[in-house]
Amino acid sequence: MTDALQYRMGTTITEHLLQCEGECPAATGQFTQLLSELTTGAKLISREINKAGLLAYILGLTGDTNVQGEQVKKLDDFADQVFIWRMQRSGLLCALSSEENEGVIQVPDNLPRGNYVIVFDPLDGSSNIDANVSIGTIFSIYRRLETEVCGTLDNFLRYGSEQVAAGYFLYGSSTMLVYTVGNGVHGFTLDPSVGEFLLSHPYIKIPERGGIYSVNEANSMYWDEPTNATIEYFKSGRTHLGKPYTSRYIGSMVADFHRNMMYGGIYMYPADRKDPAKANGKLRLLCEAAPMAFIAEQAGGAATDGKGRILDIKAKALHERTPLFIGSRKDVEDATSIMQGHEPE
Ligand code: AHG
Ligand code: MN
Ligand code: MN
Repeated sequence: MTDALQYRMGTTITEHLLQCEGECPAATGQFTQLLSELTTGAKLISREINKAGLLAYILGLTGDTNVQGEQVKKLDDFADQVFIWRMQRSGLLCALSSEENEGVIQVPDNLPRGNYVIVFDPLDGSSNIDANVSIGTIFSIYRRLETEVCGTLDNFLRYGSEQVAAGYFLYGSSTMLVYTVGNGVHGFTLDPSVGEFLLSHPYIKIPERGGIYSVNEANSMYWDEPTNATIEYFKSGRTHLGKPYTSRYIGSMVADFHRNMMYGGIYMYPADRKDPAKANGKLRLLCEAAPMAFIAEQAGGAATDGKGRILDIKAKALHERTPLFIGSRKDVEDATSIMQGHEPE
């Protein structure tokens, strides 16, 4: 069967995981059901996002401030509630953690519990919601610890390398799911006429080097000297292209990362001195950096905090932040070398 015909015949996420169950330790029946719950949540969010321009009640702020000190958008809140509601009732989870909530979210006593814990960023790139610009959802799944009590904090304070699955939904010109269970990265596109995510990008590989750098350069006055030297490198004639990279920055990490994964390149959110409370940068280790790092590595790319591998960091707090350099393997190696004071090879 040709690839084109195969796509038209359609492979759903459930079928794809069932095919993998023999080879991927993470792909158990429970796990397949968990992903299916997540995709239903994403379909509901996608439906709301697609109507956002028409329905004024979806846009704007709730008036609340979240645990990160950020203003909560109505769609942030809706996405958070959809995932919490579905995940708590799935019977597959022992506990949850969301970017929008301060502590561990427990599964109520009257509901069954399962073998996994999930960390998620319900809406990533929320500053773009009201402007009809791409946004996303990020998730990261760990097996629960073999402790008597379910849902303790130490279930979440883990190394990124312990993740059994990670993925993101991108609500862009089409809605996509990109995920890994440790056997490569696979992309599915929501076909609205069928109502299913269908396999569209099997075994995604990020180019070894790219030509795009993505960073909020307005922060440069708050960066230290090695960070400025790193970004200057990508703007110089010393790159592998012999000329500067192209700059692309959406301000939704999911969308910036996805574009770089397709085309090759590097996304950076370095530490800055703008806000002493965010001395480690802005991005959250557990719900943003670690899942994206797992995906990047599975696609042949890399992710560091400017010193070492993101997946080798053990979280000390639920909402810990980390600097992030992620994308094409050699671009990330170059950035990490310069951050350490060495010229790239
Ligand atoms: P969130 O919307 O979940 O709070 O995350 C926003 C993050 C990330 O998506 C994006 O790349 C970055 O913040 C943008 O930050 P700046 O506006 O500081 O560039
Ligand atoms: Mn985010
Ligand atoms: Mn968010």
